[in-house]
Amino acid sequence: MCARVALAMVTALAGGCAWDGPMSTVVARSDLNRSILSVYSIITWASVIIAAVVFAVLALILLRFRARADEAALPPQVRGHTALELAWTIGPALILLVIAIPTIQVIFRTQTTAAPENALEVTVRGWQWWWEFRYPTLDVVTANELHLPAGRPVVFTLDGPDVIHSFWVPQLGGKRDVIPGRLNRLAFTPERAGEYWGQCAEFCGASHANMRLRVIVEEPAAFERWVSAQKGSPPEPSGAAAEGKSIYTRNACVGCHTIRGVSAGTLGPDLTHFGSRQLFGAGLWPVTPDHVVAWLKDPPALKPGSKMPNLGLSDDDAKALAAYLIDLK
Ligand code: CUA
Repeated sequence: MCARVALAMVTALAGGCAWDGPMSTVVARSDLNRSILSVYSIITWASVIIAAVVFAVLALILLRFRARADEAALPPQVRGHTALELAWTIGPALILLVIAIPTIQVIFRTQTTAAPENALEVTVRGWQWWWEFRYPTLDVVTANELHLPAGRPVVFTLDGPDVIHSFWVPQLGGKRDVIPGRLNRLAFTPERAGEYWGQCAEFCGASHANMRLRVIVEEPAAFERWVSAQKGSPPEPSGAAAEGKSIYTRNACVGCHTIRGVSAGTLGPDLTHFGSRQLFGAGLWPVTPDHVVAWLKDPPALKPGSKMPNLGLSDDDAKALAAYLIDLK
């Protein structure tokens, strides 16, 4: 019975394991992670080999020297065996050396702040509880969804306006802390187009676990198209969306959010192209009318501790406002 329960538990636990899940650290999709993974492999294989040798020797000793009825209680004792002493001092020192050399190399490589010639600059700002991404040379600002071109180095400057967060995209790079009053740097080159999941990796308050992000790595031409769409102004709304715009401008929204040409708040995400994103709320919900309305009606109910308060919007106002926001392509 006990064995069956144990088997069921192990099966259930193992079911949660996936080698290539979206948050897997053993799938490297950038030069930075490839370097880290190389050290990780060396240490893993060294540990596996050491464990195999230790268990094999242990098994041998248990079998060969087990107590037998016809033997004296204590086997012959060996003291001060110079060759053995030397072996188990030099052996581990060599193993540590083999691990240390690539580790130190990778530490220096991953801490480099020198920007390659054609590097794209991105400023990452961690807020309770969402991510702001600024492209200072492109004049683009976005939130929670970071677009990057494949094959081009990116240099991130990490800046924390409130508390300590940690920028982490397991398959691309990080973790690198985002610390108030200190500029950290991180550089990597995403290798191929795709969507990568990220997560804040430093406990930062009630909604730390809800502080996710997506990185969308695109072919350079697609990235350029995205940039030019982000630089443009959103179209003038009509119908319900026009009503939504007037609700937006009459309410506290304008104090915290920027919509280019409409408002210039800086405490919440820039919403200029909100409708062009797949997810909102720091990567929690898809940008659909139902989800956006639910959020607008009561943000703290959806994200505990949310700095955006419940504005007391009526159903109709929330729907019109959602229509306006989703139209901001
Ligand atoms: Cu931000 Cu945890």
